[in-house]
Amino acid sequence: MRPLQLTFAIIKPHVVKQPLVLETIRDMILTSNFKVVKTRRHAFTLKEAELFYEEHRNKFFYNRLVTFMTSGPSDFYILARDDAIKEWRKLMGPTKVFKTQFEAPDSIRGQFGLSDTRNATHGSDSPESVRKEVGLFFPHFDIENWYQEEEPKFR
Ligand code: PPS
Repeated sequence: MRPLQLTFAIIKPHVVKQPLVLETIRDMILTSNFKVVKTRRHAFTLKEAELFYEEHRNKFFYNRLVTFMTSGPSDFYILARDDAIKEWRKLMGPTKVFKTQFEAPDSIRGQFGLSDTRNATHGSDSPESVRKEVGLFFPHFDIENWYQEEEPKFR
């Protein structure tokens, strides 16, 4: 079995409000061989959203994105799988919803994305982002320790 990698995922507020869609996405996570390492339901505070999306601070959609992400609880996940960062982004599909219909209609965003903001899910784009994003929402989770102590037990 190939080594497992961690990624960080968010199911966004509009999905958390829809139990059937939420259940379908959870099933897609499990049937795509992701292991749920940690999960938590939490509403972004304004400060957290501003920090989380700080790299987009100068973009036209920043205020819209921060307002939406603070509009209600999201579900936060630490997921494990081989090539988890890439595989989770593949399962999510493209950020831009118009692209999903051509490139990945069966992806999560292809099925449940409503707009570029309400695009159902988030996924870290690099190991550095995983570290930053896990650190923000699972501050007691020790990534290094998980790779050393826990990852071998999953094999
Ligand atoms: S970009 O355009 O490459 O900077 O965007 P990207 O990295 O793909 O997306 C980053 C997050 O910005 C959100 N986004 C938008 N929100 C509102 N309107 C528009 N037009 C828009 N474009 C991108 C998008 O939902 C991404 O959030 P996450 O949480 O990462 O999915």
